[in-house]
Amino acid sequence: MNIQWYPGHMTKAKRAMKEDLKLIDLVIELVDARVPLSSRNPDIDDLGAGKARIVLLNKADLADEALNRRWAQWFTERGLHVVKIDARNKGTLKQIQAVVQEACKEKIERDRKRGILNRPIRAMVVGIPNVGKSTFINSFAGKACAKTGNKPGVTKGNQWIRLNKTLELLDTPGILWPKFEDQQVGLKLALIGSINDEILNRDELALELVSFLNRRYPGVLAERYQLENAGDCDTTQVLEQVARQRSCLAKGGELDLPKAARLLLDDFRSGRLGRITLEEPETAKDKGEKDQDG
Ligand code: G4P
Repeated sequence: MNIQWYPGHMTKAKRAMKEDLKLIDLVIELVDARVPLSSRNPDIDDLGAGKARIVLLNKADLADEALNRRWAQWFTERGLHVVKIDARNKGTLKQIQAVVQEACKEKIERDRKRGILNRPIRAMVVGIPNVGKSTFINSFAGKACAKTGNKPGVTKGNQWIRLNKTLELLDTPGILWPKFEDQQVGLKLALIGSINDEILNRDELALELVSFLNRRYPGVLAERYQLENAGDCDTTQVLEQVARQRSCLAKGGELDLPKAARLLLDDFRSGRLGRITLEEPETAKDKGEKDQDG
């Protein structure tokens, strides 16, 4: 789903989320493991203040495993609980129950002291469009659980899905906007296919991808498309080579670069180029250097 965000949409989304937050104990935030920062909502820390928080690094199956580990550590260092998942694969969701208990330890203890026993934790899934919220809710909740019906105060249409005795999930996820005013964020979301390709220049996007891969994952393109001397070519020449190797030809036999661009982007998005992450966590060292640079 692609949503064009306008200030009106953002105000509405924020208001709806604030209402829903009154009803819940735990915010389950989904981010895309290929772009863990760019796929976050800029206001999520404010919105989620005072709630238990879990970050799910979703689509971890498509992301670089070494960077998945570094990102998991990065979020952990910021006091958030983290689980790497592939929302389509139930096996990867098993650890979440234990992490929920851990993240909500204080609430459970508070309840216990007040004599409230066995009140289920209420959670809500939030994230930007296309990050995998619906897929996650479907896999996590599964068929077995029954909806518990409307409760007072719940926005009309919202229902609680009872997962087990200790956890209830709001059936509608909170859709939040990304930090799209940042050009780099927009570029990365476009690369992973979260922004409608129709409104972008796909050829330029593919050239950006070539340039990134040559820097960070050298050899990946040469191997996938059997390119020669790809490291010595500029980005357009690389795309031309891809077009030649994959017989992307227009009428008259000339190279069809838009077709090659589409093919390259599809291969990247579906993981056929391998597991690739587009952004790295800033290390303490990077930060120190930046601060020194002013
Ligand atoms: P949303 O509710 O947050 O908007 O996202 P949604 O669940 O609709 O997921 C968006 C796309 O991402 C879907 O693909 C979905 O299958 C895919 N997806 C979700 N989680 C994962 C994951 O962990 N790994 C991978 N590889 N893909 C994931 P689609 O192409 O839009 O739909 P479909 O072809 O699966 O039907």
